[in-house]
Amino acid sequence: MPVETLRWTDGGLELIDQTKLPGELTYLTCRTPEDVHDALRRLVVRGAPAIGVASAYGLLLGLKDKRELPKADFAAALGETAEYLKTARPTAVNLFWAIDRMLAAAEAAGELEAPGLYAVLESEADAICEEDRESCRLLGRFGAELLKDGDTVLTHCNAGALATVDYGTALGVVYAAVESGKQISVYADETRPLLQGARLTAWELGESGVPVTLICDDMVATSMAQGRIDAVVVGADRIAANGDTANKIGTLGVAILAQYYLVPFYIAAPLSTVDFGAATGESIPIEERSPDEVRGFGGQATAPDGVDVYNPAFDVTPAHMINAIITDRGVARPPLEESLAALGKEDG
Ligand code: MRU
Repeated sequence: MPVETLRWTDGGLELIDQTKLPGELTYLTCRTPEDVHDALRRLVVRGAPAIGVASAYGLLLGLKDKRELPKADFAAALGETAEYLKTARPTAVNLFWAIDRMLAAAEAAGELEAPGLYAVLESEADAICEEDRESCRLLGRFGAELLKDGDTVLTHCNAGALATVDYGTALGVVYAAVESGKQISVYADETRPLLQGARLTAWELGESGVPVTLICDDMVATSMAQGRIDAVVVGADRIAANGDTANKIGTLGVAILAQYYLVPFYIAAPLSTVDFGAATGESIPIEERSPDEVRGFGGQATAPDGVDVYNPAFDVTPAHMINAIITDRGVARPPLEESLAALGKEDG
């Protein structure tokens, strides 16, 4: 990708404003945790891994001007900012994973005063950011093995460079397959209500030179029935220990169609997206968003004013419908509960 989704600078956290794509490629600078919270809520930055990295830097923004404080006050600000950022969005586990990792780094460096603790936290956030680049490339290479030369992959939402620091999970698999010399093309569905497929996936694949065909969400069945799709690869917001996977609303429908039409259905996500504390998908919290997202788009009404709306942002695909989960530590195959646990153990 010619662009980075986010970057940490002296001036603050710079984020591509994804609400403006594909029309405008602009960066928005967050200078406070409140700016980051708002950017997360409004999906200026979105996608589970990018949410994790942005929240780690968001925590730093709350501590930047507290380095001169006594250690106890610095620690109190750390705790408060961590709790606050965790309220931004409930489903992507990477947000909680990244913040808890920052808290653990501070705990481990407990003997340091505020300036030293800040430095430790800054290197931890940088490490989370760098590891994201690396894990996307690793999982991309594992996943590329599952695709054949000439395949057409259907993806849902955006699990690309824009959902990570710079490469992507589901689209990382596509990029790695293309880099290995395979001809791969992509069908991107629109992904109502917020059109991450149309606005973001179609845009970034276009920028990357990967052939992409845009379809409406209701064209997936026909595309599969006509044999246009060889594999489905999507990302994940949270994977339960048994393999049940929460991802963007509509993923479950795609999985059901893939099962019916015998199209392999793959999840691509770093191991940090596996929540080993959630036994099954039932314990994954699902975000519900504003009814206005369904009543219209971009300020334009597409439904009667005030009509009742149900707007869950994610759904859960049961483990038994998933052919494999591609992680940065290897490919987990059914039985997913055992293979994920084995990968988790290797990872420490
Ligand atoms: O609401 P969003 O745009 O944050 O939802 C994003 C998704 O559902 C992605 O598929 C998921 O986070 C994986 S991103 C690599």
